[in-house]
Amino acid sequence: MTGRPHLRIAVVGGGANDEHDVSLASAAAVVAALRTGGHTAAPLTIGRDGTWHDEDGSILSPADAVARLTSCDAAFPLLHGEHGEDGAVAGLLDLVGVPVVGSPVRAGALAADKWVTKTIADAVGITSAPAVRIDAADPVEAAAASVPFAPPLVVKPTSAGSSNGVTLVRRRDDLAAAIDHARSAGSTVLVESFVAGREVDVALFRDRSGVLRSGATLEVAVDHRGVFDRAQKYDGSAPFRIPAGISVAEHAAVAGAAATLYDVLGCAGVARFDFFVTGDGVVLNEVNTAPGFTEQSQVPRMYAAVGVGYVQLVDELLAAALG
Ligand SMILES: Nc1ncnc2c1ncn2[C@@H]1O[C@H](COP(=O)(O)OP(=O)(O)O)[C@@H](O)[C@H]1O
Ligand SMILES: [Mg+2]
Repeated sequence: MTGRPHLRIAVVGGGANDEHDVSLASAAAVVAALRTGGHTAAPLTIGRDGTWHDEDGSILSPADAVARLTSCDAAFPLLHGEHGEDGAVAGLLDLVGVPVVGSPVRAGALAADKWVTKTIADAVGITSAPAVRIDAADPVEAAAASVPFAPPLVVKPTSAGSSNGVTLVRRRDDLAAAIDHARSAGSTVLVESFVAGREVDVALFRDRSGVLRSGATLEVAVDHRGVFDRAQKYDGSAPFRIPAGISVAEHAAVAGAAATLYDVLGCAGVARFDFFVTGDGVVLNEVNTAPGFTEQSQVPRMYAAVGVGYVQLVDELLAAALG
Protein backbone atom coordinates (compact mmCIF):
# COMPACT_ATOMS: atom_id res chain seq x y z
CA MET A 1 0.00 0.00 0.00
CA THR A 2 1.14 3.52 -0.71
CA GLY A 3 -0.78 4.95 2.23
CA ARG A 4 -3.38 6.83 0.21
CA PRO A 5 -6.44 8.16 1.97
CA HIS A 6 -9.75 6.39 1.73
CA LEU A 7 -11.11 6.96 -1.77
CA ARG A 8 -14.44 6.34 -3.44
CA ILE A 9 -13.84 4.75 -6.83
CA ALA A 10 -16.38 3.97 -9.55
CA VAL A 11 -15.53 0.65 -11.16
CA VAL A 12 -17.11 0.37 -14.59
CA GLY A 13 -17.47 -3.08 -16.11
CA GLY A 14 -19.48 -5.05 -18.63
CA GLY A 15 -19.93 -3.10 -21.83
CA ALA A 16 -21.95 -3.30 -25.00
CA ASN A 17 -19.59 -5.60 -26.87
CA ASP A 18 -18.51 -9.21 -27.17
CA GLU A 19 -15.97 -8.89 -24.35
CA HIS A 20 -18.72 -8.16 -21.81
CA ASP A 21 -18.15 -11.23 -19.63
CA VAL A 22 -14.38 -10.83 -19.56
CA SER A 23 -14.85 -7.25 -18.46
CA LEU A 24 -17.21 -8.27 -15.66
CA ALA A 25 -14.52 -10.58 -14.31
CA SER A 26 -11.89 -7.81 -14.48
CA ALA A 27 -14.23 -5.35 -12.75
CA ALA A 28 -15.13 -7.79 -9.97
CA ALA A 29 -11.45 -8.35 -9.25
CA VAL A 30 -10.76 -4.61 -9.03
CA VAL A 31 -13.76 -4.08 -6.74
CA ALA A 32 -12.40 -6.75 -4.40
CA ALA A 33 -8.90 -5.26 -4.47
CA LEU A 34 -10.17 -1.75 -3.73
CA ARG A 35 -12.14 -3.02 -0.75
CA THR A 36 -9.14 -4.97 0.48
CA GLY A 37 -7.10 -1.80 0.11
CA GLY A 38 -9.52 0.13 2.34
CA HIS A 39 -11.27 2.10 -0.40
CA THR A 40 -14.94 2.28 -1.29
CA ALA A 41 -15.80 0.70 -4.63
CA ALA A 42 -18.93 1.82 -6.42
CA PRO A 43 -19.53 -0.80 -9.13
CA LEU A 44 -21.37 0.28 -12.26
CA THR A 45 -22.17 -2.20 -15.01
CA ILE A 46 -22.96 -1.43 -18.62
CA GLY A 47 -25.26 -4.07 -20.10
CA ARG A 48 -24.82 -5.64 -23.52
CA ASP A 49 -27.62 -3.32 -24.63
CA GLY A 50 -25.77 -0.24 -23.35
CA THR A 51 -27.93 0.37 -20.28
CA TRP A 52 -26.21 1.25 -17.00
CA HIS A 53 -26.88 -0.73 -13.83
CA ASP A 54 -25.92 -0.31 -10.20
CA GLU A 55 -24.50 -3.05 -8.00
CA ASP A 56 -28.00 -4.44 -7.30
CA GLY A 57 -28.75 -4.70 -11.00
CA SER A 58 -31.20 -1.79 -11.01
CA ILE A 59 -31.22 0.18 -14.25
CA LEU A 60 -29.80 3.69 -13.99
CA SER A 61 -30.75 6.47 -16.38
CA PRO A 62 -27.74 8.07 -18.09
CA ALA A 63 -28.17 11.06 -15.79
CA ASP A 64 -28.18 8.81 -12.71
CA ALA A 65 -25.12 6.96 -13.99
CA VAL A 66 -23.28 10.27 -14.40
CA ALA A 67 -24.38 11.29 -10.90
CA ARG A 68 -22.85 8.09 -9.53
CA LEU A 69 -19.63 8.73 -11.44
CA THR A 70 -19.32 12.33 -10.30
CA SER A 71 -19.86 11.28 -6.67
CA CYS A 72 -16.54 9.42 -6.87
CA ASP A 73 -12.92 10.56 -6.57
CA ALA A 74 -12.02 8.68 -9.76
CA ALA A 75 -13.36 6.02 -12.08
CA PHE A 76 -11.58 2.81 -12.97
CA PRO A 77 -13.02 1.54 -16.27
CA LEU A 78 -12.44 -2.12 -17.05
CA LEU A 79 -14.34 -2.03 -20.33
CA HIS A 80 -12.59 -4.07 -22.99
CA GLY A 81 -13.26 -3.34 -26.65
CA GLU A 82 -15.84 -1.17 -28.36
CA HIS A 83 -17.92 1.41 -26.48
CA GLY A 84 -15.34 1.55 -23.71
CA GLU A 85 -11.66 0.82 -24.31
CA ASP A 86 -11.91 2.75 -27.59
CA GLY A 87 -11.96 6.07 -25.73
CA ALA A 88 -15.73 6.25 -25.28
CA VAL A 89 -15.72 5.92 -21.51
CA ALA A 90 -12.65 8.14 -21.08
CA GLY A 91 -14.46 10.83 -23.09
CA LEU A 92 -17.53 10.64 -20.90
CA LEU A 93 -15.43 10.83 -17.74
CA ASP A 94 -13.39 13.73 -19.07
CA LEU A 95 -16.47 15.76 -19.92
CA VAL A 96 -18.02 15.24 -16.49
CA GLY A 97 -14.75 15.97 -14.69
CA VAL A 98 -14.00 12.57 -13.18
CA PRO A 99 -10.33 11.46 -13.14
CA VAL A 100 -9.89 8.23 -15.04
CA VAL A 101 -7.63 5.35 -14.09
CA GLY A 102 -6.44 4.50 -17.57
CA SER A 103 -5.85 5.96 -20.99
CA PRO A 104 -7.48 9.15 -22.24
CA VAL A 105 -9.70 9.32 -25.34
CA ARG A 106 -6.91 9.64 -27.86
CA ALA A 107 -4.84 6.64 -26.82
CA GLY A 108 -7.91 4.47 -26.43
CA ALA A 109 -9.25 5.41 -29.84
CA LEU A 110 -5.92 5.03 -31.64
CA ALA A 111 -5.05 1.67 -30.08
CA ALA A 112 -8.56 0.26 -30.54
CA ASP A 113 -8.02 0.24 -34.30
CA LYS A 114 -5.29 -2.21 -35.21
CA TRP A 115 -4.77 -0.59 -38.60
CA VAL A 116 -4.23 2.82 -37.04
CA THR A 117 -1.88 1.33 -34.44
CA LYS A 118 0.18 -0.32 -37.18
CA THR A 119 0.35 2.93 -39.14
CA ILE A 120 1.59 4.86 -36.13
CA ALA A 121 4.06 2.12 -35.23
CA ASP A 122 5.42 2.20 -38.76
CA ALA A 123 5.89 5.97 -38.52
CA VAL A 124 8.13 5.54 -35.47
CA GLY A 125 10.11 2.66 -36.95
CA ILE A 126 8.34 -0.25 -35.22
CA THR A 127 7.64 -3.16 -37.54
CA SER A 128 4.30 -4.93 -37.75
CA ALA A 129 3.06 -7.64 -40.11
CA PRO A 130 2.46 -6.62 -43.74
CA ALA A 131 -1.29 -6.06 -43.99
CA VAL A 132 -4.15 -4.83 -46.11
CA ARG A 133 -7.25 -3.19 -44.73
CA ILE A 134 -10.55 -4.23 -46.26
CA ASP A 135 -13.34 -1.73 -46.02
CA ALA A 136 -16.81 -2.77 -44.89
CA ALA A 137 -18.19 -1.83 -48.31
CA ASP A 138 -15.67 -3.81 -50.39
CA PRO A 139 -17.12 -6.91 -52.11
CA VAL A 140 -15.63 -9.96 -50.39
CA GLU A 141 -14.49 -11.94 -53.42
CA ALA A 142 -12.78 -8.94 -55.03
CA ALA A 143 -11.17 -7.99 -51.73
CA ALA A 144 -9.87 -11.53 -51.23
CA ALA A 145 -8.50 -11.63 -54.77
CA SER A 146 -6.64 -8.35 -54.23
CA VAL A 147 -4.66 -9.52 -51.17
CA PRO A 148 -1.02 -9.37 -52.32
CA PHE A 149 0.41 -11.86 -49.77
CA ALA A 150 0.61 -15.63 -49.90
CA PRO A 151 -0.81 -17.79 -47.09
CA PRO A 152 -0.48 -18.39 -44.25
CA LEU A 153 -2.50 -15.26 -43.46
CA VAL A 154 -4.29 -14.00 -40.37
CA VAL A 155 -7.66 -12.36 -40.94
CA LYS A 156 -9.14 -10.28 -38.13
CA PRO A 157 -11.44 -7.35 -37.44
CA THR A 158 -9.58 -4.04 -37.13
CA SER A 159 -11.38 -3.28 -33.86
CA ALA A 160 -12.31 -6.29 -31.78
CA GLY A 161 -10.68 -8.33 -29.05
CA SER A 162 -10.59 -11.70 -27.31
CA SER A 163 -9.62 -13.23 -30.68
CA ASN A 164 -13.21 -12.80 -31.86
CA GLY A 165 -13.43 -13.08 -35.63
CA VAL A 166 -9.73 -14.09 -35.97
CA THR A 167 -8.91 -16.85 -38.49
CA LEU A 168 -5.63 -18.39 -39.57
CA VAL A 169 -5.94 -18.97 -43.31
CA ARG A 170 -3.70 -21.63 -44.79
CA ARG A 171 -5.33 -21.90 -48.22
CA ARG A 172 -6.20 -18.98 -50.47
CA ASP A 173 -9.60 -20.58 -51.14
CA ASP A 174 -10.52 -20.04 -47.49
CA LEU A 175 -9.75 -16.32 -47.50
CA ALA A 176 -13.18 -14.99 -48.52
CA ALA A 177 -14.95 -16.99 -45.79
CA ALA A 178 -12.45 -15.69 -43.22
CA ILE A 179 -13.10 -12.10 -44.31
CA ASP A 180 -16.83 -12.69 -43.92
CA HIS A 181 -16.26 -14.16 -40.47
CA ALA A 182 -14.13 -11.18 -39.37
CA ARG A 183 -16.82 -8.81 -40.67
CA SER A 184 -19.34 -10.44 -38.37
CA ALA A 185 -17.17 -9.31 -35.41
CA GLY A 186 -16.33 -5.84 -36.78
CA SER A 187 -16.94 -3.92 -39.97
CA THR A 188 -13.42 -3.33 -41.30
CA VAL A 189 -11.01 -6.20 -41.63
CA LEU A 190 -7.24 -6.69 -41.64
CA VAL A 191 -5.56 -9.39 -43.66
CA GLU A 192 -2.01 -9.87 -42.34
CA SER A 193 0.87 -12.09 -43.21
CA PHE A 194 1.24 -14.75 -40.53
CA VAL A 195 4.22 -13.96 -38.31
CA ALA A 196 6.11 -17.02 -37.09
CA GLY A 197 7.70 -16.22 -33.77
CA ARG A 198 7.34 -16.20 -30.03
CA GLU A 199 4.31 -14.26 -28.81
CA VAL A 200 5.71 -11.91 -26.15
CA ASP A 201 3.75 -9.30 -24.23
CA VAL A 202 4.89 -6.52 -21.93
CA ALA A 203 2.91 -4.12 -19.76
CA LEU A 204 3.71 -0.55 -18.75
CA PHE A 205 2.22 2.14 -16.58
CA ARG A 206 3.55 5.58 -15.75
CA ASP A 207 3.52 5.86 -12.00
CA ARG A 208 2.75 8.83 -9.77
CA SER A 209 6.34 10.07 -9.93
CA GLY A 210 6.46 9.86 -13.75
CA VAL A 211 8.47 6.65 -13.98
CA LEU A 212 7.42 4.05 -16.56
CA ARG A 213 7.00 0.80 -14.64
CA SER A 214 7.22 -2.47 -16.50
CA GLY A 215 6.02 -5.89 -15.50
CA ALA A 216 7.96 -8.99 -16.47
CA THR A 217 7.63 -10.06 -20.09
CA LEU A 218 5.13 -12.84 -20.70
CA GLU A 219 5.30 -15.39 -23.45
CA VAL A 220 2.11 -17.02 -24.66
CA ALA A 221 3.17 -20.54 -25.43
CA VAL A 222 0.73 -21.15 -28.27
CA ASP A 223 1.52 -23.68 -30.89
CA HIS A 224 3.56 -21.54 -33.25
CA ARG A 225 1.61 -22.80 -36.22
CA GLY A 226 -1.65 -21.56 -34.68
CA VAL A 227 -3.20 -18.48 -33.11
CA PHE A 228 -4.00 -17.64 -29.49
CA ASP A 229 -7.75 -18.19 -29.76
CA ARG A 230 -10.63 -17.24 -27.50
CA ALA A 231 -10.94 -20.70 -25.96
CA GLN A 232 -7.25 -20.81 -25.01
CA LYS A 233 -7.44 -17.27 -23.63
CA TYR A 234 -10.12 -18.08 -21.12
CA ASP A 235 -9.96 -21.81 -20.40
CA GLY A 236 -6.49 -21.48 -18.94
CA SER A 237 -5.01 -23.94 -21.42
CA ALA A 238 -2.43 -21.58 -22.93
CA PRO A 239 0.65 -21.81 -20.78
CA PHE A 240 2.22 -18.46 -19.95
CA ARG A 241 5.93 -18.28 -19.48
CA ILE A 242 7.11 -15.44 -17.24
CA PRO A 243 9.53 -13.98 -18.07
CA ALA A 244 9.50 -14.79 -21.76
CA GLY A 245 12.27 -17.03 -23.06
CA ILE A 246 14.00 -14.30 -25.06
CA SER A 247 17.51 -12.91 -25.08
CA VAL A 248 18.61 -9.76 -23.27
CA ALA A 249 18.80 -7.94 -26.61
CA GLU A 250 15.30 -9.09 -27.59
CA HIS A 251 14.01 -8.03 -24.19
CA ALA A 252 15.52 -4.58 -24.72
CA ALA A 253 13.93 -4.33 -28.17
CA VAL A 254 10.48 -5.26 -26.83
CA ALA A 255 10.78 -2.90 -23.86
CA GLY A 256 12.00 -0.04 -26.04
CA ALA A 257 9.24 -0.45 -28.61
CA ALA A 258 6.59 -0.62 -25.87
CA ALA A 259 7.87 2.55 -24.18
CA THR A 260 7.88 4.39 -27.51
CA LEU A 261 4.32 3.28 -28.24
CA TYR A 262 3.11 4.17 -24.72
CA ASP A 263 4.20 7.74 -25.29
CA VAL A 264 3.41 8.19 -28.98
CA LEU A 265 -0.12 6.90 -28.45
CA GLY A 266 -0.45 8.99 -25.28
CA CYS A 267 -1.33 6.15 -22.93
CA ALA A 268 -2.00 6.54 -19.22
CA GLY A 269 -2.65 3.85 -16.67
CA VAL A 270 -1.62 0.37 -17.62
CA ALA A 271 -1.39 -0.80 -21.22
CA ARG A 272 -0.24 -4.11 -22.67
CA PHE A 273 1.92 -4.28 -25.77
CA ASP A 274 1.85 -7.55 -27.69
CA PHE A 275 4.72 -8.54 -29.96
CA PHE A 276 6.09 -11.42 -31.94
CA VAL A 277 9.80 -12.01 -31.40
CA THR A 278 11.17 -13.50 -34.60
CA GLY A 279 14.56 -14.39 -35.98
CA ASP A 280 14.39 -11.08 -37.87
CA GLY A 281 13.54 -8.91 -34.90
CA VAL A 282 10.54 -7.68 -32.98
CA VAL A 283 7.16 -7.33 -34.72
CA LEU A 284 4.26 -5.49 -33.09
CA ASN A 285 0.92 -7.29 -32.98
CA GLU A 286 -1.35 -4.94 -31.04
CA VAL A 287 -1.73 -2.56 -28.11
CA ASN A 288 -4.42 -3.02 -25.43
CA THR A 289 -5.19 0.09 -23.38
CA ALA A 290 -7.69 -1.80 -21.19
CA PRO A 291 -6.12 -5.24 -20.90
CA GLY A 292 -7.72 -8.16 -19.09
CA PHE A 293 -7.38 -7.47 -15.39
CA THR A 294 -8.41 -10.41 -13.26
CA GLU A 295 -5.70 -11.62 -10.90
CA GLN A 296 -5.04 -14.48 -13.31
CA SER A 297 -4.92 -12.21 -16.37
CA GLN A 298 -1.64 -11.52 -18.07
CA VAL A 299 -0.97 -8.01 -16.79
CA PRO A 300 -1.42 -8.67 -13.06
CA ARG A 301 0.72 -11.78 -13.41
CA MET A 302 3.45 -9.78 -15.14
CA TYR A 303 3.56 -7.31 -12.24
CA ALA A 304 3.30 -10.02 -9.60
CA ALA A 305 6.45 -11.50 -11.13
CA VAL A 306 8.33 -8.26 -10.35
CA GLY A 307 6.96 -8.07 -6.82
CA VAL A 308 3.94 -5.81 -7.36
CA GLY A 309 0.92 -7.72 -6.10
CA TYR A 310 -2.63 -7.15 -7.32
CA VAL A 311 -3.83 -4.88 -4.51
CA GLN A 312 -0.65 -2.83 -4.75
CA LEU A 313 -0.96 -2.58 -8.53
CA VAL A 314 -4.50 -1.25 -8.22
CA ASP A 315 -3.33 1.22 -5.59
CA GLU A 316 -0.39 2.39 -7.72
CA LEU A 317 -2.72 2.95 -10.68
CA LEU A 318 -5.06 5.01 -8.51
CA ALA A 319 -2.13 7.05 -7.25
CA ALA A 320 -0.93 7.66 -10.81
CA ALA A 321 -4.39 8.84 -11.91
CA LEU A 322 -4.91 11.14 -8.94
CA GLY A 323 -1.40 12.61 -8.89
N1 LIG B 1 -0.13 -11.55 -38.11
C1 LIG B 1 -0.21 -12.54 -37.22
N2 LIG B 1 0.68 -13.59 -37.27
C2 LIG B 1 0.60 -14.62 -36.39
N3 LIG B 1 -0.35 -14.72 -35.43
C3 LIG B 1 -1.25 -13.72 -35.33
C4 LIG B 1 -1.23 -12.57 -36.20
N4 LIG B 1 -2.24 -11.76 -35.85
C5 LIG B 1 -2.87 -12.34 -34.81
N5 LIG B 1 -2.28 -13.52 -34.51
C6 LIG B 1 -2.69 -14.47 -33.45
O1 LIG B 1 -4.07 -14.29 -33.18
C7 LIG B 1 -4.26 -13.88 -31.82
C8 LIG B 1 -5.39 -12.86 -31.74
O2 LIG B 1 -5.09 -11.75 -32.59
P1 LIG B 1 -5.02 -10.26 -32.05
O3 LIG B 1 -4.61 -9.41 -33.17
O4 LIG B 1 -4.18 -10.23 -30.83
O5 LIG B 1 -6.53 -9.96 -31.71
P2 LIG B 1 -7.32 -9.69 -30.34
O6 LIG B 1 -7.46 -8.20 -30.25
O7 LIG B 1 -8.64 -10.35 -30.54
O8 LIG B 1 -6.49 -10.25 -29.21
C9 LIG B 1 -2.89 -13.36 -31.38
O9 LIG B 1 -2.74 -13.47 -29.98
C10 LIG B 1 -1.96 -14.28 -32.15
O10 LIG B 1 -1.85 -15.56 -31.54
MG1 LIG C 1 -4.55 -9.90 -28.84
